[in-house]
Formats: sequence, C-alpha cells, structure tokens
Amino acid sequence: MTAIITDLIGLQVLDSRGRPTVCVRMTLGDGSIHKVSVPSGASTGQHEAVELRDNGTSHAERFFEGKSVYQAVANINEIIRPELINTVPNTQRTDALLIGIDTTDRHEILGANATLAVSLVTAKAVAHIQELSLARFYQPTGALRIPMPMVNILSGGAHANGALDIQDVLVIPHGATTFSQALSWVVAIRDAAARIGAAQGYVTNLIADEGGLGIPFESSSQACAFVTECIEAVGLAPGQEVSIALDIAATQFYDRGNYVSRSSGKTFTAQQWHEQLITLLSSHPIISIEDPFAEDDWNSWETFMRLLPKPIQVVGDDLFTTNLGRLWRGIENKSANSILIKPNQNGLVTQTHDVLNHAQEHGFTTIVSARSGETEDSWLADLATGWGAGQIKVGSTHGSERTAKWNRLLELEATEETVFSKPF
Ligand code: PGA
Ligand code: ZN
Repeated sequence: MTAIITDLIGLQVLDSRGRPTVCVRMTLGDGSIHKVSVPSGASTGQHEAVELRDNGTSHAERFFEGKSVYQAVANINEIIRPELINTVPNTQRTDALLIGIDTTDRHEILGANATLAVSLVTAKAVAHIQELSLARFYQPTGALRIPMPMVNILSGGAHANGALDIQDVLVIPHGATTFSQALSWVVAIRDAAARIGAAQGYVTNLIADEGGLGIPFESSSQACAFVTECIEAVGLAPGQEVSIALDIAATQFYDRGNYVSRSSGKTFTAQQWHEQLITLLSSHPIISIEDPFAEDDWNSWETFMRLLPKPIQVVGDDLFTTNLGRLWRGIENKSANSILIKPNQNGLVTQTHDVLNHAQEHGFTTIVSARSGETEDSWLADLATGWGAGQIKVGSTHGSERTAKWNRLLELEATEETVFSKPF
C-alpha cells in the first residue's frame, strides 16, 4: 500500500533566532518524504498551548540554555510514532489520536510543538496522496483567495529589545490589485524606511526578530508619522493605497491594572491608555490594531470596541490565542472584530481551522500569522490561502524564514487560478 506511513522521525532543528525547534519527517509507502518544522513566539500569551522545552541541565541541553526540545522530539519518536506507523494518514484521525494520548487542554504532556508538527505533516501527506498542494487540499476547486499581507516595517517590544513600547508598526497595501504588486509596494516602503531612517541619523542596518527596523522612536505617534512619510516617499497614498496596522502587544507592558510605557517613562491606567490609543488612531492612517489591551483585560477591550472613533479592525492575538473557548467569549461580548490565527498557539491543524471558520461565521476577519521565531518552511502560506483567511502576517520582507512564505504566495499566484483578497 503506497499510502501507508512507513516512517515518522522527529528531530531538533534551529529557528530563525537560532533556538531549537521541532521538525518532523514522514515517509509514505510510495517513498515520498514530507517534512514540517514549527515556529515559536517571543511575546507569547499565557493561554497558548504549551511549547515543551527541556529547561534542564544535561550536557546536550546546556548549550541551548534549557531551550532544547529533546523531550518533544522523544514524544514524537517514542509515543506518537508507534501509533501512526502502518496506518493511512488522515488529519482527523491523527488529531483525535493526539488528543487521546494527551488529554490536557493545552497539550502539556506531548507539547504543542510536537502535536502541531505531527498534525501538519499528516495534512501534507494526505494532500500528497490526493496529488494536491496543501492549499488545494483545503480548497480543491475554484479560484484560490491569496491573502492580503500585513507587513512589518518597525519593530519594538519583545522583538527589538523594547526599542518602542508597541511591538509592530506594519503596513497593509490594500490598494494593490495583485499580491505581487502588493509585495513590491511593501518592499519599496521597507527600503524607504531604511534610507530615510539612516538620513535622520538612526541605525538601520540592524534588524529585529521579524526583519523589521528597531528604530528607537520616542513615541508610537512618531513611529506612525515616520511610516506614513515612507509610504508617501515611494509615491503611494497613505490611507487610500496603503494604511498602517499596529500590533500593540499590550500584555507585554501591563502591570496590575496599569500600562507602563518604557519609552516615555509614564504609567497609564486602562482608561488613560484607552485615551492614548484613541488619539493615536485619530492622528494617523491606521486601519487595524492588534492586542491594544492585555490578554485578560476584557473590560477594556469591550469599552474600546464600543467607543471606536472610526471603523477599524480590532485584532485579538494574545486575547484569543487561537482558542475556541476564548473566541466564543470575544464573540459574545463583542471584545474584538478580528482574530489572529497562529497554529502553534492551538497545537492542532483541524482545531486551528475550526477556530478560523467559527470566527468567519460570526463576522470576524481572520489573519493567519507566523511567529517571531520562524523556519524556512512555507506551510503557513498554503493554509492562509486554502482556508480563505483573507489576510496574512509574516513579519517583514527581510529574512528567508519570512520570504519563504511570501515566495510561496507568489508561486501560488503565478501558477493557480487566484483572486487577491481585500482585507475587509
Ligand atoms: P510572537 O509575536 O510570535 O513573538 O508572539 C507575534 C505577534 O505578537 O503577533
Ligand atoms: Zn501579536
């Protein structure tokens, strides 16, 4: 039987930060080999599925400061492998098996880094058996919807040693008519940012975790004004053709009810922080804001949604952690109108897809997202497209762990029947 799993091997590889991560390799009876490696976040939400790290002191782990993933790899090789060998790959069955082995809500025993790798490689193998790409496996017929990119220009927070309080200032090239045009616009804006920043005396050849520039602007407002200037510098119209998206990642600077701004040295109550954000939104061409408040500060999210000064996308990342229960709460209480979908926050492909579908059914926009620690794998681009997510967030246009995803979208656009998604 050519479609049978003949081997499954987990191994430890490195991510874009040079930290260990999980890779898995599945061999089928037809001799085909399918590989997946999984990403890892830095500004992780506390409700995310558990990423298993060894945190130990053995000789092998010593060099990775406890961040090795040998236990997660052993879980694949010793616990999961015997269950899957000689079976026909099936995504539902694999995910059910993983839930059966580890009944904890957040994959604490096997590790979400192990479960996601196995779950994804199964999907890849099934697609292969059906002679489909991963994107086409999820959407076999009709025009594929290439997602609108949300691209990082400036980085702060946990990704750039706190250069700025907020984590990302990104751009959305919503006026572009094709993905390749959209990407060419953001490449130009990113280059303009490096050039203009250097002319203003900033260091712009050192880049942050996601390939953005870690310029230490004094305020978020200054950073937004700078990105607007860069959009104009390449001859594009801010607000009409390209707009700004922010990832505040506010959990990172939340402290017992207050928001503590490192760059200004000021501490804001939730109400004062709300006012700061409203001023920012009103002063710049911002159309999307992610994690404006901390992951459990639900009340502030709800008030914010009620009092928005203009219709914008309010995205829950740490708030929802790609978790169906948390999404339900957000839908019921109108805490946000958009969700970031990170497969490794969830740990299983079928459940991640379910979360995305539920969000869309309830009028939420969906943004499939990479992590700050990534690999050269490009499955995220296929999922975002095949699932019709509408938007994708991968970081900057620098770093091959980022371009692997952009390049896969370029390939899909060039080789398949596609439409380019509008963001909302
Ligand atoms: P992370 O950041 O991968 O470090 O969590 C990405 C994000 O916050 O969107
Ligand atoms: Zn985020």
